Amino acid sequence: MPENRIMLDVLKGHKSCPPPLWMMRQAGRYLPEYRELRKKAGSFLDLCYNPDFAVEVTLQPIRRFDFDASILFSDILVVPHALGRDLRFEEGRGPLMTPISAADIGRLDVSNFHQHLAPVYETVKRLRAELPAKTTLIGFCGAPWTLATYMIAGHGTPDQAPARLFSYSEPEAMGRLISILADYSAEYLIRQIDAGVDAVQIFDSWSGVLDEPGFEAFCIAPVAEIVRKVRAAHPNVPVIGFPKGAGARYAAYRDRTGVEGLGLDWTVPLPYARSLQEGGAVQGNLDPLRLVAGGRALAEGVDAILSALGSGPLIFNLGHGITPETPIAHVEAMIRQVRSFSGR
Ligand code: CP3
Repeated sequence: MPENRIMLDVLKGHKSCPPPLWMMRQAGRYLPEYRELRKKAGSFLDLCYNPDFAVEVTLQPIRRFDFDASILFSDILVVPHALGRDLRFEEGRGPLMTPISAADIGRLDVSNFHQHLAPVYETVKRLRAELPAKTTLIGFCGAPWTLATYMIAGHGTPDQAPARLFSYSEPEAMGRLISILADYSAEYLIRQIDAGVDAVQIFDSWSGVLDEPGFEAFCIAPVAEIVRKVRAAHPNVPVIGFPKGAGARYAAYRDRTGVEGLGLDWTVPLPYARSLQEGGAVQGNLDPLRLVAGGRALAEGVDAILSALGSGPLIFNLGHGITPETPIAHVEAMIRQVRSFSGR
């Protein structure tokens, strides 16, 4: 592993000035070259499962912005898809699946899992060969709770009420679903690492809707299990956890899951973020709408993060994915500002 992948150094707890920089959803609809290839591919899932397209889309933001890290282009929902659940993406509606029932959970078809995901592993292999040596390649999966929310509701909802209700009314089935998802997500990450990724991120976009026992059982426990399994197979590959909306529970999440990197959403107060940095690297946490607005809102947001967190292990990122309406000029301005940071 080349030592010049600065993001890996930061994940080991070292400081880098300026900090390494990438953006969640950096390959996406704000880029004209993405929109063009997306049209050619036909559907979003065709982009994900065709290594020619997936490699190209992953590389687009690297060519344009030379980010320090590249994230594999795919989606978290390919895991339930590989477990035999149907999945489609409709324009303007996001993901659609048939809601899973308690009985269906006992009948999940795991027999085709790795075969279904073979194009993802192939994409990773080609990416590692094509990316500049200095660029960290990040693999990822969705956390079991976030996957379960989409599997249970069948689509996105504002507060994941169907999954929360299911967890109270069908506790055994819920426990079983979370445990299956944890097992297969761990295997999925291990295969991505075998194929060439340098670090992995676990996206728990919906951890913020859980009460205390729910956060413990469905967020911390299964992610700790995934980290344990990944580490047993690949002790030197860092894991970044992104429990969006975890608020005051971020510290417990880091301590109990054992993740090396902590992805912070934009609501995390910077003094709290600074205290979290004492336990290791943090990643974030610019509000993506500051990037849409640009100008002063952007400059002040970037400056506040660099001032508060720039003297410790920091990976500069947004606090959630970039939105399609973001002007490219604002991304360029953010990159210039981060890269001109010389410490204070
Ligand atoms: O970050 C990257 O560039 C890597 C690719 C990536 C995508 N989705 C591509 C994508 C990653 C890491 C994800 C993760 C993902 N997918 C999450 C967790 C992170 C988060 O955003 O909270 C979730 C919850 C999903 C499920 C999902 N996929 C939703 C809810 C949607 C619809 C919302 C939307 O933006 O349209 C998607 C679609 C999706 N995933 C797109 C992209 C580029 C847009 C699809 C298109 O081109 O039409």
